[in-house]
Amino acid sequence: MASSDEKKEHIRSLTMCGHVGFESLPDQLVDRSIQQGFCFNILCVGETGIGKSTLINTLFNTNFEEHESSHFCPSVRLKAQTYELQESNVRLKLTIVNTVGFGDQINKEESYQPIVDYIDDQFEAYLQEELKIKRSLFNYHDSRVHVCLYFIAPTGHSLRTLDLLTMKSLDSKVNIIPLIAKADTISKTELQKFKMKLMSELIISGVQIYQFPTDDDTTSRINTAMNGHLPFAVVGSMDEVPVGNKMVKARQYPWGTVQVENENHCDFVKLREMLICTNMEDLREQTHTRHYELYRRCKLEEMGFSDLGPENKPVSLQETYEAKRHEFYGERQRKEEEMKQMFVQRVKEKEAILKEAERELQAKFEHLKRIHQEERMKLEEKRRALEEEALAFSKKKAASELVQNQSFLASGSIRKDKDRKNSNFM
Ligand code: GTP
Ligand code: MG
Repeated sequence: MASSDEKKEHIRSLTMCGHVGFESLPDQLVDRSIQQGFCFNILCVGETGIGKSTLINTLFNTNFEEHESSHFCPSVRLKAQTYELQESNVRLKLTIVNTVGFGDQINKEESYQPIVDYIDDQFEAYLQEELKIKRSLFNYHDSRVHVCLYFIAPTGHSLRTLDLLTMKSLDSKVNIIPLIAKADTISKTELQKFKMKLMSELIISGVQIYQFPTDDDTTSRINTAMNGHLPFAVVGSMDEVPVGNKMVKARQYPWGTVQVENENHCDFVKLREMLICTNMEDLREQTHTRHYELYRRCKLEEMGFSDLGPENKPVSLQETYEAKRHEFYGERQRKEEEMKQMFVQRVKEKEAILKEAERELQAKFEHLKRIHQEERMKLEEKRRALEEEALAFSKKKAASELVQNQSFLASGSIRKDKDRKNSNFM
């Protein structure tokens, strides 16, 4: 702080002696901007059939092609369409994002989460482009949502929980302008009470809606007055009806005509004036400097970047990067060491298991070997016994054959003697 004051003290104001030309800088800026063209992204959040498309058509006096949505969508979707518009020499790339099926599901959280995600996705895309080494922000199609027109049903009662929850979850991400839709369906006195009720409910719930800026002298008066008219009660229609001697946009009923651009009938003109003619640039700026900045800060902090180091000393991106790299390197080494230790431990465990298995296998083998040996010995014994038996048997057999032969021979000689004796007698 002191150093910047010191720097200021060294700056001298000089009076120039003649024309130089840098007074044309604002004109150069305007020329450059016109050449580049502008982009503006509107998000319309509101239940199916509440009049989102009709209002956008009426606001830009254009028939953007749109199909009706069904009430039976299983989830909320966001549909974005981009159009190129031109008014005199100013080109506007307008993106209209509509919710499809909002409020038609039972689960409330699932109704607003896709909207939050959509907004974050656009911030993320921009951040990624910004972080690129070779970035092309000059011709980048910026899809960040500049304003959220939040359509509230003209019930005359109070805000629905879904509306409160949705606005609460969006208010730090986008500029919210609340609108009472189809304001021709609510009486004038009811409308005033409804507006007051809605505003007090929003304040009690801590919902931050967009405030038209009051710090610029040229617009502060009108913007202050308009802040007091929020939420705007709007009527949309592309039908042209003769009123007096001119054609005006209106909705015709059996009992009369509601003129869209008549400030006694609704706040449509106030909305158009504030949104398009007076504060479009502020909405774009707020998106970049407030909402995107917050997203970017949180995201970079999440990634570990910070402007302040330990002991609240300012650190540069380079220092943070080096510190992170160091931290990461240390962490990697620690992890590597841990993994090595784990590996060694695992190997040891496996080795022990394998050794145990080997031991068991060896024991089993020894056991089987012993059994096998015993069996073999038994068989050997049996074989020997059998052989002995066979030997004894063959011995016996030989002896008996001998006996048999001898007796046969003996019986043969007796018969010969008898025969001889008999022949002698004859
Ligand atoms: P989806 O995109 O299908 O969710 O609908 P939306 O919100 O775009 O509504 P859309 O503009 O298609 O209007 C739905 C119906 O409401 C149409 O019949 C419109 O004529 C009617 N409508 C639109 N704006 C108003 C309005 O300000 N007052 C009244 N009374 N009716 C309106
Ligand atoms: Mg629509």
